[in-house]
Amino acid sequence: MLKIFKSKEELAAYFSDYLYELNQKHEKLNIALSGGSTPKVVFDHLSLNYRDKMDWSKMHFFWGDERCVPPEDEQSNYAMTKHHLFSKITIPEENINRILGESEPSAEAMRYANLLDYKLNTSNDLPEFDLVILGMGDDGHTASIFPHEIKLWDYKDHCAVAKHPESGQRRVSINGQVINNAQEVVFLVTGINKSKKVKEIHKQTAGYMNYPASLVKPVSGNLKWLLDEAAASEIMD
Ligand code: 6PG
Repeated sequence: MLKIFKSKEELAAYFSDYLYELNQKHEKLNIALSGGSTPKVVFDHLSLNYRDKMDWSKMHFFWGDERCVPPEDEQSNYAMTKHHLFSKITIPEENINRILGESEPSAEAMRYANLLDYKLNTSNDLPEFDLVILGMGDDGHTASIFPHEIKLWDYKDHCAVAKHPESGQRRVSINGQVINNAQEVVFLVTGINKSKKVKEIHKQTAGYMNYPASLVKPVSGNLKWLLDEAAASEIMD
Protein backbone atom coordinates (compact mmCIF):
# COMPACT_ATOMS: atom_id res chain seq x y z
CA MET A 1 0.00 0.00 0.00
CA LEU A 2 1.34 3.45 -0.90
CA LYS A 3 -0.02 6.72 0.46
CA ILE A 4 1.12 10.18 -0.62
CA PHE A 5 0.78 13.25 1.61
CA LYS A 6 1.01 16.95 0.78
CA SER A 7 3.67 17.45 3.43
CA LYS A 8 5.76 15.54 5.94
CA GLU A 9 3.63 17.12 8.67
CA GLU A 10 0.49 15.56 7.18
CA LEU A 11 2.33 12.25 6.90
CA ALA A 12 3.34 12.54 10.56
CA ALA A 13 -0.23 13.25 11.62
CA TYR A 14 -1.54 10.24 9.69
CA PHE A 15 1.12 7.86 11.00
CA SER A 16 0.73 9.08 14.58
CA ASP A 17 -2.98 8.40 14.41
CA TYR A 18 -2.24 4.96 12.97
CA LEU A 19 0.11 4.22 15.88
CA TYR A 20 -2.61 5.35 18.28
CA GLU A 21 -5.09 2.94 16.65
CA LEU A 22 -2.60 0.08 17.10
CA ASN A 23 -2.06 1.20 20.69
CA GLN A 24 -5.78 0.94 21.40
CA LYS A 25 -6.08 -2.47 19.73
CA HIS A 26 -3.16 -4.20 21.42
CA GLU A 27 -2.00 -4.87 24.97
CA LYS A 28 1.66 -4.79 23.92
CA LEU A 29 3.51 -3.64 20.82
CA ASN A 30 7.14 -4.40 19.95
CA ILE A 31 8.22 -1.68 17.54
CA ALA A 32 11.57 -1.19 15.76
CA LEU A 33 12.27 2.48 15.15
CA SER A 34 14.25 3.96 12.30
CA GLY A 35 16.80 6.71 12.71
CA GLY A 36 18.13 9.58 10.64
CA SER A 37 16.09 12.78 10.39
CA THR A 38 12.71 11.75 8.93
CA PRO A 39 11.29 10.31 12.17
CA LYS A 40 11.81 13.66 13.98
CA VAL A 41 8.59 15.13 12.54
CA VAL A 42 6.64 12.04 13.68
CA PHE A 43 8.16 12.07 17.17
CA ASP A 44 7.46 15.80 17.50
CA HIS A 45 3.84 15.24 16.44
CA LEU A 46 3.47 12.34 18.89
CA SER A 47 4.96 14.22 21.84
CA LEU A 48 2.78 17.25 21.14
CA ASN A 49 -0.55 15.52 20.44
CA TYR A 50 -0.40 12.04 22.00
CA ARG A 51 1.62 12.60 25.16
CA ASP A 52 -1.37 11.97 27.41
CA LYS A 53 -3.53 10.03 24.90
CA MET A 54 -1.23 7.13 24.06
CA ASP A 55 -0.80 4.34 26.62
CA TRP A 56 3.00 4.36 26.35
CA SER A 57 3.33 1.46 28.80
CA LYS A 58 2.11 -0.81 25.98
CA MET A 59 4.83 0.42 23.59
CA HIS A 60 8.15 -1.45 23.65
CA PHE A 61 10.72 0.31 21.52
CA PHE A 62 13.71 -1.16 19.75
CA TRP A 63 15.80 0.11 16.84
CA GLY A 64 16.29 -1.28 13.37
CA ASP A 65 19.76 0.20 13.42
CA GLU A 66 22.07 2.41 15.42
CA ARG A 67 25.27 4.26 14.77
CA CYS A 68 28.26 2.98 16.77
CA VAL A 69 28.57 6.15 18.84
CA PRO A 70 27.82 6.93 22.50
CA PRO A 71 24.11 7.42 23.43
CA GLU A 72 24.54 11.16 23.94
CA ASP A 73 26.27 11.66 20.57
CA GLU A 74 24.30 13.88 18.16
CA GLN A 75 24.68 11.10 15.57
CA SER A 76 22.91 8.60 17.86
CA ASN A 77 19.42 7.45 16.77
CA TYR A 78 18.65 6.85 20.44
CA ALA A 79 19.71 10.42 21.32
CA MET A 80 17.49 11.79 18.52
CA THR A 81 14.50 9.75 19.73
CA LYS A 82 15.09 10.76 23.36
CA HIS A 83 15.30 14.43 22.39
CA HIS A 84 12.16 14.43 20.21
CA LEU A 85 10.01 11.90 22.07
CA PHE A 86 11.16 10.06 25.19
CA SER A 87 12.11 13.25 27.05
CA LYS A 88 8.54 14.53 26.56
CA ILE A 89 6.43 11.49 27.47
CA THR A 90 6.12 9.11 30.41
CA ILE A 91 7.32 5.66 29.39
CA PRO A 92 8.80 2.91 31.58
CA GLU A 93 12.59 2.76 31.25
CA GLU A 94 12.42 -0.99 30.61
CA ASN A 95 10.34 -0.35 27.47
CA ILE A 96 13.30 1.26 25.75
CA ASN A 97 15.71 -1.29 24.28
CA ARG A 98 18.50 0.76 22.75
CA ILE A 99 21.36 -0.69 20.75
CA LEU A 100 24.48 0.12 22.80
CA GLY A 101 26.33 2.29 20.31
CA GLU A 102 29.18 2.74 22.74
CA SER A 103 29.97 -0.99 22.80
CA GLU A 104 32.31 -2.92 20.51
CA PRO A 105 30.16 -3.33 17.35
CA SER A 106 30.36 -7.09 16.74
CA ALA A 107 29.82 -7.86 20.43
CA GLU A 108 26.82 -5.52 20.46
CA ALA A 109 25.38 -7.07 17.29
CA MET A 110 25.47 -10.45 19.05
CA ARG A 111 24.03 -9.06 22.30
CA TYR A 112 21.19 -7.30 20.49
CA ALA A 113 20.39 -10.38 18.40
CA ASN A 114 20.06 -12.38 21.64
CA LEU A 115 17.94 -9.61 23.17
CA LEU A 116 15.55 -9.81 20.21
CA ASP A 117 15.29 -13.57 20.63
CA TYR A 118 14.61 -13.13 24.32
CA LYS A 119 12.13 -10.22 24.19
CA LEU A 120 10.19 -10.80 20.97
CA ASN A 121 7.81 -13.49 19.85
CA THR A 122 9.30 -16.01 17.45
CA SER A 123 7.93 -17.06 14.06
CA ASN A 124 9.71 -18.79 11.18
CA ASP A 125 12.62 -19.28 13.64
CA LEU A 126 13.07 -15.49 13.71
CA PRO A 127 12.23 -12.73 16.20
CA GLU A 128 8.97 -11.07 15.17
CA PHE A 129 8.34 -7.35 15.53
CA ASP A 130 4.75 -6.15 15.50
CA LEU A 131 5.93 -3.15 13.51
CA VAL A 132 9.20 -2.16 11.84
CA ILE A 133 9.45 1.49 10.85
CA LEU A 134 11.98 2.15 8.07
CA GLY A 135 13.46 5.12 6.31
CA MET A 136 15.25 5.03 2.98
CA GLY A 137 18.50 6.73 2.09
CA ASP A 138 18.88 8.52 -1.26
CA ASP A 139 21.13 5.59 -2.24
CA GLY A 140 18.32 3.13 -1.58
CA HIS A 141 19.66 1.80 1.73
CA THR A 142 17.31 0.96 4.57
CA ALA A 143 18.05 0.37 8.23
CA SER A 144 21.85 0.26 7.87
CA ILE A 145 21.99 -2.18 4.99
CA PHE A 146 23.74 -0.23 2.24
CA PRO A 147 23.98 -1.15 -1.46
CA HIS A 148 27.73 -1.81 -1.23
CA GLU A 149 27.07 -4.37 1.52
CA ILE A 150 23.75 -5.73 0.26
CA LYS A 151 24.92 -9.23 1.20
CA LEU A 152 24.23 -8.25 4.82
CA TRP A 153 20.55 -8.47 3.93
CA ASP A 154 20.86 -12.23 4.35
CA TYR A 155 23.44 -12.08 7.13
CA LYS A 156 23.58 -15.32 9.15
CA ASP A 157 22.68 -13.61 12.48
CA HIS A 158 19.74 -11.33 13.24
CA CYS A 159 22.06 -8.31 13.55
CA ALA A 160 25.06 -7.34 11.43
CA VAL A 161 27.82 -4.75 11.72
CA ALA A 162 27.61 -2.44 8.69
CA LYS A 163 29.80 0.38 7.48
CA HIS A 164 28.56 3.69 6.06
CA PRO A 165 29.89 3.91 2.47
CA GLU A 166 31.14 7.48 2.76
CA SER A 167 32.02 8.08 6.39
CA GLY A 168 33.05 4.51 7.22
CA GLN A 169 31.02 4.90 10.41
CA ARG A 170 30.10 1.51 11.83
CA ARG A 171 26.51 0.66 12.46
CA VAL A 172 24.61 -2.23 14.07
CA SER A 173 21.61 -3.20 11.95
CA ILE A 174 18.95 -5.87 11.96
CA ASN A 175 19.12 -7.95 8.79
CA GLY A 176 16.55 -8.34 6.04
CA GLN A 177 15.20 -11.60 7.42
CA VAL A 178 14.18 -9.92 10.68
CA ILE A 179 12.73 -6.96 8.78
CA ASN A 180 10.66 -9.23 6.53
CA ASN A 181 9.49 -11.32 9.47
CA ALA A 182 7.68 -8.37 11.05
CA GLN A 183 3.88 -8.40 11.27
CA GLU A 184 4.00 -5.05 9.49
CA VAL A 185 6.60 -2.77 7.90
CA VAL A 186 6.01 0.94 7.28
CA PHE A 187 8.39 3.11 5.23
CA LEU A 188 8.41 6.81 6.08
CA VAL A 189 10.08 8.60 3.15
CA THR A 190 10.11 12.35 2.62
CA GLY A 191 12.08 14.86 0.58
CA ILE A 192 12.91 15.43 -3.07
CA ASN A 193 16.29 13.73 -2.67
CA LYS A 194 14.49 10.38 -2.33
CA SER A 195 12.28 10.77 -5.44
CA LYS A 196 14.66 9.09 -7.91
CA LYS A 197 15.08 5.91 -5.86
CA VAL A 198 11.36 5.85 -5.04
CA LYS A 199 10.66 5.85 -8.76
CA GLU A 200 13.29 3.18 -9.54
CA ILE A 201 12.01 0.88 -6.83
CA HIS A 202 8.29 1.37 -7.47
CA LYS A 203 8.61 1.21 -11.26
CA GLN A 204 11.13 -1.66 -10.89
CA THR A 205 13.52 -0.07 -13.38
CA ALA A 206 16.76 -1.88 -14.33
CA GLY A 207 18.96 -2.63 -11.33
CA TYR A 208 16.33 -1.74 -8.72
CA MET A 209 17.10 -4.94 -6.86
CA ASN A 210 20.54 -3.51 -6.04
CA TYR A 211 18.82 -1.25 -3.52
CA PRO A 212 18.21 -2.88 -0.11
CA ALA A 213 14.94 -0.93 0.26
CA SER A 214 13.57 -2.91 -2.72
CA LEU A 215 14.12 -6.17 -0.82
CA VAL A 216 11.62 -5.24 1.91
CA LYS A 217 8.78 -7.71 1.33
CA PRO A 218 7.30 -8.78 4.67
CA VAL A 219 6.10 -12.40 4.59
CA SER A 220 2.90 -11.11 6.23
CA GLY A 221 2.29 -8.97 3.14
CA ASN A 222 1.69 -5.93 5.36
CA LEU A 223 3.88 -3.25 3.77
CA LYS A 224 3.04 0.45 3.68
CA TRP A 225 4.99 3.21 1.92
CA LEU A 226 4.10 6.63 3.32
CA LEU A 227 5.57 9.38 1.16
CA ASP A 228 5.29 13.13 0.97
CA GLU A 229 4.69 14.68 -2.48
CA ALA A 230 8.36 15.62 -2.79
CA ALA A 231 9.56 12.03 -2.40
CA ALA A 232 6.73 10.81 -4.64
CA SER A 233 7.23 13.51 -7.30
CA GLU A 234 8.60 11.08 -9.93
CA ILE A 235 5.81 8.50 -9.54
CA MET A 236 2.86 10.89 -9.46
CA ASP A 237 0.89 11.06 -12.72
C1 6PG B 1 19.85 5.75 10.02
C2 6PG B 1 18.54 5.22 9.54
C3 6PG B 1 18.55 5.15 8.06
C4 6PG B 1 17.62 6.26 7.63
C5 6PG B 1 17.85 6.64 6.20
C6 6PG B 1 17.02 7.88 5.86
O1 6PG B 1 20.36 5.29 11.03
O2 6PG B 1 20.29 6.72 9.36
O3 6PG B 1 17.99 4.22 10.16
O4 6PG B 1 18.14 3.95 7.48
O5 6PG B 1 16.28 5.85 7.84
O6 6PG B 1 19.22 6.93 6.04
O7 6PG B 1 17.52 8.92 6.65
P1 6PG B 1 16.84 10.37 6.64
O8 6PG B 1 15.50 10.19 7.29
O9 6PG B 1 17.76 11.21 7.48
O10 6PG B 1 16.74 10.79 5.22
